[in-house]
Amino acid sequence: MHWRDTHTGYGLVTRALHWGMAALILWQFVGMGLRLLLGRTPLVSFFVGTHAPVGTLLFALILLRGCWALANRGRRPSHSAGLVGMAAQAGHGLLYLMMLAIPSLALLRAWGGTRPFAPFGIPVFPGREVELGWATTPANLLHGELAWILGVLVLGHVAMVVLHERVWRDGTLARMAGRR
Ligand code: HEM
Repeated sequence: MHWRDTHTGYGLVTRALHWGMAALILWQFVGMGLRLLLGRTPLVSFFVGTHAPVGTLLFALILLRGCWALANRGRRPSHSAGLVGMAAQAGHGLLYLMMLAIPSLALLRAWGGTRPFAPFGIPVFPGREVELGWATTPANLLHGELAWILGVLVLGHVAMVVLHERVWRDGTLARMAGRR
């Protein structure tokens, strides 16, 4: 068992970040999906109540993940050559960008808003007397929309894993599952 990544597989830290974040992102979509389908119910209120804290945790984890990716640069499994490899690299870059932009916009809105913001009970922003429009507008316009686009990208990511496993049979999943 290794902590850091190698050319043949991902280490413990990368795998914990990958699967932990996958679970938390799924949580966000299940909650918001149920809100869309069911409207206001006690179950939906429970999920909605966890949305901002879990999103804030995701923000911290994506920063950590970016730093860890940099620290492991040059020692990770490489993408395949050619167009497929380039598409994979672009797809992963886009996933990182969205995972950073979506909570960042929401946090900027929380900072510029009038409501106190205290994820997990930790006071982060006290809440303003007057809302800062330039800080709240981007999330009002884009947070939900970008999040649903991230949802589509995640589905594409899963579809590519199925393709790797079932058609190309190149052991891509094994590297992230710790079987290599
Ligand atoms: C990666 C992290 C996050 C994901 C994947 C995510 C995802 C989503 C989704 C799918 C929606 C539903 C949009 C709709 O109703 O059409 C939503 C709404 C919302 N999210 Fe997040 N979110 C994240 C982080 C955050 C954070 C950190 C906060 C608060 C600081 C937050 C606050 C809100 C609020 C207030 C709404 C309802 C208003 C709106 O649609 O903008 N979210 N989010």
